Amino acid sequence: MTRAAHITEKKATGAHYTPPALARFVARRILRQLGRRRSDPLRVLDPACGAGALLEAFELSAREEGRKADELVGVEADEEGLGLARLQLRANVGDRLTLIHGDFLDLAASDEGLAGLWGPPRPPTDWQEAFDVVIANPPYVRTQVLGAAKSRRLAQRFSLSGRVDLYHAFLVAITGSLRPGGTLGIIVSNRFLTTVTGAAVRRYLASHYDICEIIDLGDTKLFEAAVLPAVFVGQRKPFNPNCRADRSPSFVRVYSASPSAKETPAPRVSAAIYEVLEEGRDGLYCLPGGVYRVSTGTMDLRRDAGQVWSMTTPGETQWVKHVRSRAAGNFADVSHIRVGIKTTADSVFIRDDWEAMPAASRPEPSLLLPLLGHQDAQRWARPTGAPPAKRVLYPHQMRNGRRAAIDLACFPRARHYLQSHQARLRARRYLAESGRQWYEIWVPQDPDAWAGPKVVFPDISPAPCFFRDSSSSLVNGNCYWMTLRPGLSEDLLYLLLGLANSDVMTRFHDLAFGNKLYSGRRRYITQYVGKYPYPDPTTRPARELVQTVKNLVAASGNDVAEELRSRLECQIEKLARDCFALDTD
Ligand SMILES: C[S@@+](CC[C@H](N)C(=O)[O-])C[C@H]1O[C@@H](n2cnc3c(N)ncnc32)[C@H](O)[C@@H]1O
Repeated sequence: MTRAAHITEKKATGAHYTPPALARFVARRILRQLGRRRSDPLRVLDPACGAGALLEAFELSAREEGRKADELVGVEADEEGLGLARLQLRANVGDRLTLIHGDFLDLAASDEGLAGLWGPPRPPTDWQEAFDVVIANPPYVRTQVLGAAKSRRLAQRFSLSGRVDLYHAFLVAITGSLRPGGTLGIIVSNRFLTTVTGAAVRRYLASHYDICEIIDLGDTKLFEAAVLPAVFVGQRKPFNPNCRADRSPSFVRVYSASPSAKETPAPRVSAAIYEVLEEGRDGLYCLPGGVYRVSTGTMDLRRDAGQVWSMTTPGETQWVKHVRSRAAGNFADVSHIRVGIKTTADSVFIRDDWEAMPAASRPEPSLLLPLLGHQDAQRWARPTGAPPAKRVLYPHQMRNGRRAAIDLACFPRARHYLQSHQARLRARRYLAESGRQWYEIWVPQDPDAWAGPKVVFPDISPAPCFFRDSSSSLVNGNCYWMTLRPGLSEDLLYLLLGLANSDVMTRFHDLAFGNKLYSGRRRYITQYVGKYPYPDPTTRPARELVQTVKNLVAASGNDVAEELRSRLECQIEKLARDCFALDTD
């Protein structure tokens, strides 16, 4: 099989096998929760067992503790994987092993199904409540890869709504197969912990499980997978959808770190990440893959599980509380933060070669507007006189205070150009379905708002990259833009810009939202940036911060000297800390 075909197949089946060390770690964490009653029967299930790594790890770890599972059951849809599991497990487990070739979702849920993620309880099936332990690393396959028809079928069958992932269906089916009081140890994507879209999964887990612990393995790259992994360990509650989390689960969080030279104590050296995790002590660790920061603590789940589950140590929680206590409000109180335009046909609307087209077929210049995107992002400000390389054919205008599609009859060249791409544009049937013209941009935003000063930032970047724009450029969908609410002084926009780019806010971002991606990249979106705190703008440090940011923005527009930039940035860092009365370190 070619590498590309292999990757495609992996995506379609979610087949990233668990490395043995991680499998052992999950097994040990489950065994920790099982308690001391060794005589209790022990039926163990892996609903998508692949080559059997998790079942084997459970068997070996249980033995180390002088326990023995009565039965180990593996289900696997892929015959080849199942064959490997048979080879791997037969010798160790013998006739306590049952391997089933099949689709776990079919086995666990007849068409009458189980209690859905969002739906009412349904009648039991043979598999229901049959296991004492489920150990799993279910396939993680997103809607786009699953295909619309399969997503719809799963959604119907498991009462799922919103963006359907195969692992949502697995979660429901797994819970149904676990007896009340039984223990689940599962490797999941850590995204559900901290994203708005993870709210349904959080609510489901909090209402169906006494959550014992969550281990966020962050960007440790412990295994090859499309997502950052976390391990969830919980015990199934007696069924009661209104039951709230009744204990504070512990957490361990581990992310790569770039400690400053001044940081003490120096990182401890350890041979393996799992030793560090087992030890569960806060600190910096030097491991074969790099330097990692481990944080531990307890999570407060008494709040609505719809909110993100933040994992902060008591010291970090105190720091966030302190910053919030010094705030006059949040960015969203004084500004409007939106994503850029989304054309849903970029190659038609967005180009950097309009000038190369023959004048007769080039759309009218008044419709070709400069468009800022990722590639133009430059912290603080872009050099003056350097327009973005790309321009968008923008077929919207304001008419009587309302946004409307342009009248193509008034723009014959644009009409000619758009008609030459008609098939592609009309294929976006959702426009017609929502009563709009075939040549519109799907998310055009507000044409009037582009004109004023704004702060623009890329949606994903390793460090904050907020910059001021006053060139009336539009903003593409891979960036966000922030404008002040009417009637506010423009100085406030400089204050927000300075804070957004500061280390204080980066720390706040990491602690309050805990949402890091691979390679330390962060997601900057309305949901987070809108919650950044800002101080009273009339205080001395806030006023000085505004002035310093103005100086830096002005200098950035003119090929600023590195030495000047770093001096002004240092001042901004200090003033941002002063704004929230934070100590130097
Ligand atoms: C992430 S892998 C994990 C395999 C194994 N548990 C491990 O940890 O190494 C997920 C497995 O789920 C299997 N799978 C996908 N859909 C399935 C289904 N509906 N029923 C059973 N297995 C399925 C894939 O073939 C793949 O082997």
